[in-house]
Amino acid sequence: MKVLITGGAGFIGQRTAQLLLSKGHQVSVLDNLAPPVHSGPPPLPAGIELVEGDVRKREDWVRALKGNEVVLHLADHQDYLPSFGKLFQVNAVGTALLFELLVEGNTAVRKVVLGSSMAVYGEGKYRCPKDGDVYPEPRRAEALERGTWDPPCPVCQGPATPMVTDESVVRPASAYGLSKLAQEQLVRLLGERHDINWLILRYGAVQGRAQPFQNAYYGALRIFALRLALGKPPVLLEDGNQLRDFIDVEDVSRANLSAIESLASGTYNVASGRAHTVADLARTLLRVAGREPAVETPGRYRVGDPRHVVPDVTKLKAAGWEAQAGLEAMAREYWQWLQEQPNLDAYFEGAEYLMERTGTVRLAR
Ligand SMILES: NC(=O)c1ccc[n+]([C@@H]2O[C@H](COP(=O)([O-])OP(=O)(O)OC[C@H]3O[C@@H](n4cnc5c(N)ncnc54)[C@H](O)[C@@H]3O)[C@@H](O)[C@H]2O)c1
Repeated sequence: MKVLITGGAGFIGQRTAQLLLSKGHQVSVLDNLAPPVHSGPPPLPAGIELVEGDVRKREDWVRALKGNEVVLHLADHQDYLPSFGKLFQVNAVGTALLFELLVEGNTAVRKVVLGSSMAVYGEGKYRCPKDGDVYPEPRRAEALERGTWDPPCPVCQGPATPMVTDESVVRPASAYGLSKLAQEQLVRLLGERHDINWLILRYGAVQGRAQPFQNAYYGALRIFALRLALGKPPVLLEDGNQLRDFIDVEDVSRANLSAIESLASGTYNVASGRAHTVADLARTLLRVAGREPAVETPGRYRVGDPRHVVPDVTKLKAAGWEAQAGLEAMAREYWQWLQEQPNLDAYFEGAEYLMERTGTVRLAR
């Protein structure tokens, strides 16, 4: 098949491109090589055509779509900083432009696969002993300032327990999550209305070799490993007991391949199905790096973070896909790769400073 990967010069795109090539597909990439991830020509494997362009520009889509049958849409703006306008310009407007061109009918595209995110769930599903299954509101600023991390039941305000969250209910708690939901809704609605096969893959926290350390704003493993490489202990946000589902980029690439080749239209969580606390991740990294098990927990929090992310992967498993890599292998691989990289400090200090200055990361009282 002829596949266009938007954002194909990025972390997930490059790995998926390699896998697709090895399976005999023809791959091209639309990417504007946005900083801070890119600071030079990307290391794309031979045989992949790079269309340098921007998903916000109609003429760049026209050039890139030529001859392609499937679009894997990964290009997006990801940010915890308050760049709200850009989130919607790149993510929502970019996706709307794609469908504008598909509906005009001058392309061979019959399927769109969107790389989405757990950010659309916000706090996800909880169980309250009194009110049953509930979906908490985004956590309130006053509660976080007091260091109250767990969201209450939205009905009785009492304590509730986090549950695995399936694909059915979405309630984003950040501007980024809203922009991903806007993308999803465009893909679903316009795909169905205009008979274009569509798939939405909601990825967990994707890890692995070559995750760009230049973008040190988010990604627990990347940030912990960067600090460790600079001789500093990992700093856990909140109390470190937040649950996350970490998934290896190779497993995500296999899910992308299945979506392109065979999965039925629909929305799927793509995650390992094994939740770990952020503290577990830090301890695992310290162990594989052979360092003292020392972490710092100063009570900082990041505005817009959900407390727990525990996706249900039953649907994708039923379709024959299952994650293979475990937490320790992911941590070891990233740590080994990072040792070979130059100039780590330049990126890390800048990101930490910016997050504090913009009030994105704050200290509880
Ligand atoms: N990495 C994760 O943990 C994670 C988790 C959930 C969802 N996702 C989703 O996966 C997708 C890919 O993520 P990634 O981790 O590979 O990110 P990445 O930043 O490594 O790659 C994104 C690519 O998009 C390109 N890009 C950005 N703006 C563009 C524009 N306007 N026009 C064209 N290209 C543009 C960038 O140059 C980059 O190469 C995203 O849609 C993201 O929402 C990633």
